[in-house]
Parts: sequence; structure tokens; C-alpha cells
Amino acid sequence: MQVIVSHINIDFDGLASIVAAKKLYPKAKMVLPDKISIPVQQFLAIYRDSFEFYVPRQIDWKLVTHVIMVDIANLERLGAFTKELPKEGIHYTVYDHHQPHETDIKADSGNVELIGATVTMLLEQIEANKIPITSFEATVMAIGLYSDTGSFTYLGTTARDMKAASYLMEQGANLAIVASYTDRPLLQEQQQILNSLLLNATEIQVQGIEILISWHRQKDYLGGLAILARKLLDVTGSHAAFIVVEMAKKVFIIGRSSTERVDVLPIISSYDGGGHSKAASASVKHGDCLEIVKQIKEALPSIVRAAVVARGMMTSAVKTIAPETTIEDAAKMMLRYGHTGFPIVKGEQLVGIISRRDLDKATHHGLGHAPVKGFMSKDLVTITPDTTLEEIQNIMIEHNVGRMPVMDNNQLVGIVSRTDVVEFLHGKDVQTNAEIDGLGNKPIVMNLMDAMNKNIDDIIYSLLRNIGEKADKLGFKAYIIGGVVRDLVIGFKNEDIDIVVEGDGIQFAQMLAEEFGGSVRSHEKFGTATWKTDEFCVANKSYCREGLKFDITTARREYYDYPAALPTVERSSLKEDLYRRDFTINAMAIQINDSEFGKLIDYFHGIKDINNKKIRVLYNLSFVEDPTRILRAVRFEQRFGFLMDGHTQELALNSLDKIPAVSEVRIANELKNLFQEQHPVEAIERLAALGVWDYIIGDGVASLEVLERVKELKGVIKIVTNKNVNNQDIHITSPYDNDKYRFWICYLASLFYDNDQWLERVQRFTLNNDDVEVLNHIQKLEAIWQDKIFMQTSLGVIHRELYQFRVEAIIFVLTLTSDYRQQAKTIIEYLQKRVAIPALLTGKKLKELGIKPGPIYSEILFEYECAYLNGEISNKDQINYWLQSCIDDR
Ligand code: CTP
Repeated sequence: MQVIVSHINIDFDGLASIVAAKKLYPKAKMVLPDKISIPVQQFLAIYRDSFEFYVPRQIDWKLVTHVIMVDIANLERLGAFTKELPKEGIHYTVYDHHQPHETDIKADSGNVELIGATVTMLLEQIEANKIPITSFEATVMAIGLYSDTGSFTYLGTTARDMKAASYLMEQGANLAIVASYTDRPLLQEQQQILNSLLLNATEIQVQGIEILISWHRQKDYLGGLAILARKLLDVTGSHAAFIVVEMAKKVFIIGRSSTERVDVLPIISSYDGGGHSKAASASVKHGDCLEIVKQIKEALPSIVRAAVVARGMMTSAVKTIAPETTIEDAAKMMLRYGHTGFPIVKGEQLVGIISRRDLDKATHHGLGHAPVKGFMSKDLVTITPDTTLEEIQNIMIEHNVGRMPVMDNNQLVGIVSRTDVVEFLHGKDVQTNAEIDGLGNKPIVMNLMDAMNKNIDDIIYSLLRNIGEKADKLGFKAYIIGGVVRDLVIGFKNEDIDIVVEGDGIQFAQMLAEEFGGSVRSHEKFGTATWKTDEFCVANKSYCREGLKFDITTARREYYDYPAALPTVERSSLKEDLYRRDFTINAMAIQINDSEFGKLIDYFHGIKDINNKKIRVLYNLSFVEDPTRILRAVRFEQRFGFLMDGHTQELALNSLDKIPAVSEVRIANELKNLFQEQHPVEAIERLAALGVWDYIIGDGVASLEVLERVKELKGVIKIVTNKNVNNQDIHITSPYDNDKYRFWICYLASLFYDNDQWLERVQRFTLNNDDVEVLNHIQKLEAIWQDKIFMQTSLGVIHRELYQFRVEAIIFVLTLTSDYRQQAKTIIEYLQKRVAIPALLTGKKLKELGIKPGPIYSEILFEYECAYLNGEISNKDQINYWLQSCIDDR
């Protein structure tokens, strides 16, 4: 196990360096020390859940093999847990910017340099390796960089630190947040003005917002008033401040706001000043400072926006548990619902709250069977539906609580979590990066009727309109959902239509079959049904086609009893049905009820992710619950040219060790889908880079040699299949194509091939008899191939040797031969022709000619194939003559 650690009383550079080191060592666990400095504590009070931090007691230190120390080089300053570390066999990596000391650990790798901040050196590596970071991570790293360099004024600051800052700005670091967590010492003269401003300050309350207004007069000019306005906010904790300073015959007016609710610009603009909503300034010649203060006070109510209150941001219909629930059951429910805490309710009464950390603690002590009441927090900090966002933030910081029950007349009506707060402060980007603590978000809605009309086959489109009308009659809401919606938005054709109804899916499917014809197969347990159209539907309705298949399900919530298990099912709303899904791009629906036909419902910003080409999970446990989603993520990456966002990739890496718990059949199905698409080689490389193969195949799988072989395999498959444009059967380039040729198993065999037991190991992944046959043929063909040289031989003769072997096996064995390049041309030509032999001669024809049926039929047909391949026959007219001579020869 790898861990990233920093010093006790960790400061912002330590925290930033932990986050940065995680980018370089994605498998490592980020461990915060037991003691944390006060500013970092305040930061974590809001942002803790945005990262997957561990505390020392959650780590089994005996299992640690690699310790990455950041902002510290001395073991003793890490904390008591170092005693539990194994004495030998540990690799130590140190990144530090402090003066080296003789008691420092002798590191095996890393970097110790006297620069402004440790995070700088880590960032240089992140940049050099082109590792993506989110704007939020950039912000956290910038806070570390700014605070350890005193905003680049401390003497130890180097040009490298400034370059690192510039890089962070490019990555979207948010300076407003950086500023709110960093500090700068004041000059003495500034300090004097600050004192005067504090003395003259008045605080005015407008709709729960505290706005400070103050003034100062002096003869000589002094710069840096902006810093003073910020200081004033820091010192007083007000939400906004206006300072009016008269000096050098001018009046300077500075406005600062730390909340979205106050826009200082309108007031400043009225004095011909400029800036933006949070920071603006103006200067007035010969003005009167007290008169201006008066004017500003009068204008204040007009610049305060209505409050965001708990009611608008809470998750309602809160899942609660009883005090007697065991720790174990509570933990299962957290996994099931993807929550990070539960209120505990006795009767109607809220009696406590329990967080995931409390449960971890109890489990750690072997108390899984104990009731939660022994571990819950009883000092409840509750809020009301009208508590403002600002008050909520203050409470979170003051009490260091992560979630607050919302009480209305002693009734629990909702819950507000850290995630809700972060979402409101920073928008969706951060919200999806953090764990979604509930389902309170509002969907993006737009109409896609035109896109549907254009991209969906006419018959299916009219059928969907009719299905929508049918749903109206039943009073059900009906939607198309998942892959088809994603493809519609991207502009791909997809006739694989999944329908979800808020109502009884099976009943609905049966009604459709009654109305339109066709058959229904249902699975009561899952509330799902498949409705297939048949020839009667076509006879019945002009807008129906034979062979259409619709999967119809009841909107449901799935949960997982344990990681990598198959899901258990509960009936629920559309929103919950979408929330259980793998990625935001697959979690959109389009309503098909008549009045709402074409309405896109996008709760989790799938559209935005499609536009940004991002694969993003909906909740942090997504890969833990279903590790096959890691393979799906890579499949969608390759198919659409998208990439997992940083957080999703991190979650995927953290869940790799869950892959072995998944059955081979499920893995095989995913690999089959992956290899059947257009970019199997790139997918294999990507999976190698993520380290996925280590958990499916074992070491060495992504060696250059193996990748070379896979590339050759793809090359031959492509030539053989693409050239046969007339042959409808071979066509694997579209993701929606049939399964007839099982090239996927060849790709898998290529990966396993260097292993002594490759055949047995690949056999475990076979999905049907065709896969088994391909492997058997590979084995047999390998044994005889050695002695064959096909270069100078006619295609007919080659056919005699190879006709009984499957195309897939021949291609696979061909790519293994050492003189592959010499042989390839002939074999490829053979395969291209073999799969395209026209049926100029058939059993029927032989019968017409009066030949008695028997084994002779297949013999003659085989001879025909050889003759065709040799070019002895090329059209129907030559058949009779050839047939006569063939029969004569017998
Ligand atoms: N799904 C999921 N987790 C999985 C598999 C599927 O959440 N491990 C969800 C996704 O929302 C997906 C839907 O189930 O959109 C249907 O799955 P499937 O038909 O396998 O995928 P599609 O998204 O339709 O992709 P494809 O285009 O490859 O068929």
C-alpha cells in the first residue's frame, strides 16, 4: 500500500502537496495527520468531502510499502503512527522545501530543494507529465503556494514558485478562494489606517447579510487600500465592506464582497468607478467622505440579493435510521444509498446523527454488531428551512459538522450537507467531483423533438409517439433513457431503445403488445420487460416494423449489498433511476408522453459533459459497486474520443482492486464489447496505463511486444474484413454490429499468450461455443502451422489445408508466425476470397441435376470452393462445364 503523509499541524502547503502528490501517485492513499492547523481545519470544515482523505487510524500501517512524505523530511513530525510502520522494506519518497537536517530520513526518491513551497516541485512534475488537474485542485494547490510564499513576498520565493502559480492560473485556480484563505502582513502605515477604519466602522444588516461601512481621513496618499478592505472583512467576518478614505484631496471608495449575494459594483459605478461584483473601486475629486458614507448606506438595500436558504438547497425525503440499527447495517445502507451520513430518529424524534467516519471508527474497533446509538453525535446542530447559506457556512466552520438536519416545527424536513454547500458556492463542477450526498439537484430541461425527428428512423419515431400516447392513457410517465439519449445528443444512430416508465413497466409492455401486437418477455423480480414486434404488428399498423425490440423497465433504484455484487432492486422515481447509472452521459432521459414529447431531462449535466468530452461518474462509490464500469469508461472514452475527468479517473484507480471480485463472464462481456469497437488497440493501451490488466491478466501484459502483436492482429482483421464490403456478414467496424465473428477472443488470447497457461486462462473467459471453437482451432492450427509455407501455394490448395479452421483462428495464428510478413499477403488474400465465395453452386442445383443426395454433395461443394478460389470458375455459365468434369473425375 502507498500512503501520502505530511507533518503534524499540517498547513496549506502540506495539504496542497498531498493533493499534488496524489496526482503523481494515483494509487496512494492521502492521509491527514491527527493534528491540523486552524486555517486548514476551517478549510476542511467545508471541503473535506471533496477529497478522499484518510486519518491515520483508518490505515493498516503494517501493510504500507511506500511512504510519500510531503513538506516534511523527518519521520518524527509525522505522528505516532510511524511506530507501526514495518522497520524494513519500505520505500520512502520525500518532497520538502525546508533546510535539510541530520535527523531527516534517508529518502529513496523525491526531491528536497530550498524553494518557496513544496507544492511547486510537485507541480513541475505534474506539468511535465501532462497530468490533468481540475480547477478546484488547482485552487487548493494555489492556496498552499500563496500561503507559504506570503503571496510571493517572502524572501524564499523563487521564480519557479511564480511559474507554478502561472500554471495553476492556466488550470483555472480561483483567486477569490485563494484570497479568502491566505494572509499578508501589513505595513505599519496600513495598520494605522486599518485601526482607524475599525474604530469608525458601522455594521448594517440587510436580509441577514452583514455589510460593514467605514471611513478614514488623512493628508497624505497611501496605496494598498484594497488590501485593507479585505483585511476588514477578515477581521470582522462581515459579508461585504465599503471603505471611504479621504486623502490627497480625493475620496477613494473601495467595495469588497465575499458573497454572491452582495454586488458592490452598482454603488461603485455610481461614482464612475469600475471592477466586478466582488471587488470594485472609485475615486472622487474633492468629495466629502462623510457625505459619501451616508449615500452608500442609503443605497445598500438595493445591492443585496435574496438569500439562498436551506429550503432551496436541502435534500428532502431524508433517509433516516433507528437508534437500534447496527453499525454493520448502517454501513450497508450508506453504501446502498450513496450517503455519507444518516439522521437517527426515534419515533418522530430526531435523536442523533451518524457519519461514515463514526461508522468506520466503530467498525475499526470490531463493533459492527453494536447499535448506532452508542456512536451517534447527540449534540445536534440543526437548522430551519430559512437558515441562509451564509449562516450554514458559519455553523459548519464553528461546529465542524458535515451535515445538518433541517427542522420545521420539530419535524425533520431535510438535510443540508457539505456537498450541498460546495455546490452552491462553486457550481456543478465541484459538486460532481465531490460525492453527491443526495438527489436534491434540479435538472436541465430542453426539448429534443427536432433532433429525434432527424436522427431516429421514421418508423421508430412514430412508434415512440404512439407509445407516448398510450402512456398518457394509463397515466404513466414514459421516457427513453440511457445510451439512446446519449447517442441522440451526440448525433449517433442507435436503435437500441430502452424505455423507463414511472408506473408498472411490465403492465405497460403488455398493453403495448395488446395494442400493437408482438410478444412480451418479462422479469417480475426486476420489473422489466422486453417487447418485440413481429409481422402482425406490421400488418396492424403502418408505423411498425418487424424485429424491433424495446426494453421497458419500471423506474428503479438499484443498490449493492456489498462491493461488486449484483444489484438489488427497489421501485423509485426517474431521478433515482438515473442516479444509479454509470456516467452522467448515460444518465439522461427524454420524455415521450404526448404533451411533453422530446423533453430532455438532464439532472446530472450529461449534456455539459458531452460538450466537454468528459466521462464522469455520478457518485463516488460507482466503481466500487460495479468495477466493470472501469472497462465501460474506457470503452466510451475510445468510442467518442472522450476522457474520464480527473476525479473519475482517481476513483477508477482506487477501485482497481475490486475487479477480481467480478465474475469472469461479466468481465468477458465487457471485454467483448470493448474489443468489438473501432479502437481495440488504443483501449488495451489505455487499460494498461490505468493498471487494469494487472487485475485481469497479471504482469507483463502491456509489454511492447504484446502491444505490437495486438496491433498486427488488428491490422489483419481490418484488411480482411474491410475489403469484403460486399459481404454483409463481416463488418465489425460499427459498435452496434453482430457477433458472428468472435475476433474479441483473439485480442484476449493475444494478451494472455505469453503466459504458459494462456489457453486455460482465456478459456475461463469464453462466452459461447463459438469462442471455445476459436480457441480450439487456434490450438490445433498452431501445431500444424509450423510445417506449412503458404507463400507459393494456390488459394485452392490453401483452402484444402485451412477450410476447417475459423477465420479468427487463422488470423490469430498468422500474426504469431515469425515470417508473418511474407505469409500475410497470401493468407489475407485467401481469407478475403474465402468469406466472399458466391453461391454459384448449391445443394438445390445438384438435386436439380439429378445427383443423389449424400456425402457427395459436400465433397462437390468443397471442390467447387477450391476451384473458385483457384480462379477456375468465376461465373454461373462456367458451372455446368466444371461440374461435369468434376463428376467425370470421380
Ligand atoms: N449501466 C450502468 N452500469 C453498467 C451498465 C449499464 O449504469 N455497468 C446503465 C447505463 O446508464 C447505460 C444503460 O445502463 O446507459 C444501458 O446499458 P447498455 O445497454 O450496456 O449501455 P449503453 O449505454 O446503451 O451503451 P452501448 O451504446 O454500448 O449499448
